[in-house]
Amino acid sequence: MVHKYNAKKTQKYFDSLAGDYFSAYAPRDEILLKLILPKYKEKNSGKITALDFGCGGGALLLKMLERGIKAKGIEKHDELYQLAQKRLGESGFDKANVIKGSIKELNSLPKNSFDFIILMGVLQYLPPHQRSQLYVKIHRLLKPKGHIISTFQNAFFDLFTFNKYTVDLFQEKFFKPLGLDKLLGQGITKDLKSLMTHPDKPDYSASTARDNIYVETTNPLTIGEELASYKFKLLQKYFYNFFPLPRLIENKYKGQLDKFKKQFEVTRSKEWYGHFMANAFVVDCVKEN
Ligand SMILES: C[S@@+](CC[C@H](N)C(=O)[O-])C[C@H]1O[C@@H](n2cnc3c(N)ncnc32)[C@H](O)[C@@H]1O
Repeated sequence: MVHKYNAKKTQKYFDSLAGDYFSAYAPRDEILLKLILPKYKEKNSGKITALDFGCGGGALLLKMLERGIKAKGIEKHDELYQLAQKRLGESGFDKANVIKGSIKELNSLPKNSFDFIILMGVLQYLPPHQRSQLYVKIHRLLKPKGHIISTFQNAFFDLFTFNKYTVDLFQEKFFKPLGLDKLLGQGITKDLKSLMTHPDKPDYSASTARDNIYVETTNPLTIGEELASYKFKLLQKYFYNFFPLPRLIENKYKGQLDKFKKQFEVTRSKEWYGHFMANAFVVDCVKEN
């Protein structure tokens, strides 16, 4: 079941996670720091300015500041905001680099002022109208030829898992948009489930976002069109969070897959396997005037 957007529930969910939001290794951060930024620096001299929207506990913000990037973060949820400020303060950076707020607060930042605007693990939690507002405001804030670096939840990964999320994918991305549910009735979901051994697995988890709040999954084949409609040109997709086997059978091979899995993160993130084996992707796109 896909949850409807509810601002209060989303707020509560992220507040409850605050303590966990400072992981040392995040493949999406590595993709930015090791693949995207070095390539950008080859062609552009001068100090890079960046805004990390939904900066969470500030992990990436800190890494950017440590690399000499003039970076700011903006965070809506109070506990995460406090955590980001604390982390920056402890590392000797100005706490004022973290702004409390969300989409509305972007109005007070000067236009054409950032080389990069970063959205790591953010867009999938926004309802469509907020996502749309955000694209428009980001367009104003980016310098000409500035980049959006954003992650998306990979819709195709759900085809690879043979579980309750596969059922959600059929409903949300095929049955509803094509009107097959109206044409054939709700029985098609039952029929679909009859083809699967575990259509109700995995069990509910309080920490899994999509079991608790609205999470949008995105088709990696059409993301370029979504971005183009807001005047951004897709440059590259990088897949991450690889699961080379469907997760319900992965445990059987625990320990044997770690090394194999790791070789895909970052290094092989541009290969086609990611369309199915990775649960998320980073997009690098550039502002068009
Ligand atoms: C999974 S966390 C990612 C945090 C951080 N970017 C990182 O990579 O660790 C999701 C972020 O999205 C933000 N977020 C969720 N819904 C939001 C909304 N409606 N408006 C603004 N930010 C939102 C949360 O506050 C949180 O910082």
